[in-house]
Amino acid sequence: MNVVELSGVRKEYPGGVVALAGVDLTVRRGELVGIVGPSGSGKSTLLHIVGSLDRPTRGTVRIAGHDVAGLTDRELAALRARHIGFVFQSFHLAPGLTALDNVADGLLYRGTPLRERRRRAAAALERVGLAERLTHRPHELSGGQRQRVAIARAVAGDPDLLLADEPTGALDTASGGAVLELLRDLNAEGTTIAVITHDHEIAAALPRRVRVRDGRVVADEAAVR
Ligand SMILES: Nc1ncnc2c1ncn2[C@@H]1O[C@H](COP(=O)(O)OP(=O)(O)O)[C@@H](O)[C@H]1O
Ligand SMILES: [Mg+2]
Repeated sequence: MNVVELSGVRKEYPGGVVALAGVDLTVRRGELVGIVGPSGSGKSTLLHIVGSLDRPTRGTVRIAGHDVAGLTDRELAALRARHIGFVFQSFHLAPGLTALDNVADGLLYRGTPLRERRRRAAAALERVGLAERLTHRPHELSGGQRQRVAIARAVAGDPDLLLADEPTGALDTASGGAVLELLRDLNAEGTTIAVITHDHEIAAALPRRVRVRDGRVVADEAAVR
């Protein structure tokens, strides 16, 4: 089954910027896809549209079998909450909250009771190797640990798709490598992942690379399995 199907996707921003100029892209369940390309080529725009944070100007977007064009903003938000986990370069953690509550808050939309959310959050933090850091606040954690909290939050709800935009961009080489390793482990356990990176070494280690330039996919290099 395809988790993502984009067909003829165009995205124009006000002022006439064409960020995506006709993109076709399919991501199958279980894949680990790198999205690479120079700054300004449209990678983040593509990730926002794949993640249904934004709608295309033209073209069709199907996420987990749902055509986003037919959904209201509210339904789109629900789709996103149910099917997609996000990780950003700058972590986006709430500064006053413990690691446990940062992750537990990611499950708020489901109406799950607090106890159950915390139980799941603890399990997710254990999965990313932070079982010993549940009560630490973001300022008490290293950059690499903060990003692992963000990844735990993204996967706690068992999303169909994990989207990461330059997740290693703010990290030193060693913690960046550990974050990549974690993403590979999660993928090996079944999570479908699309990750933007402009680190050539990281990109080279991924089983599939989608190259974006000037708002178009210019190459799609998949390792034969
Ligand atoms: N909200 C926005 N409003 C106007 N232009 C934007 C907006 N977001 C991105 N752009 C423009 O769209 C193009 C693609 O940007 P982006 O998707 O962020 O590229 P990348 O992530 O590859 O660096 C760039 O020219 C950028 O300036
Ligand atoms: Mg970007």
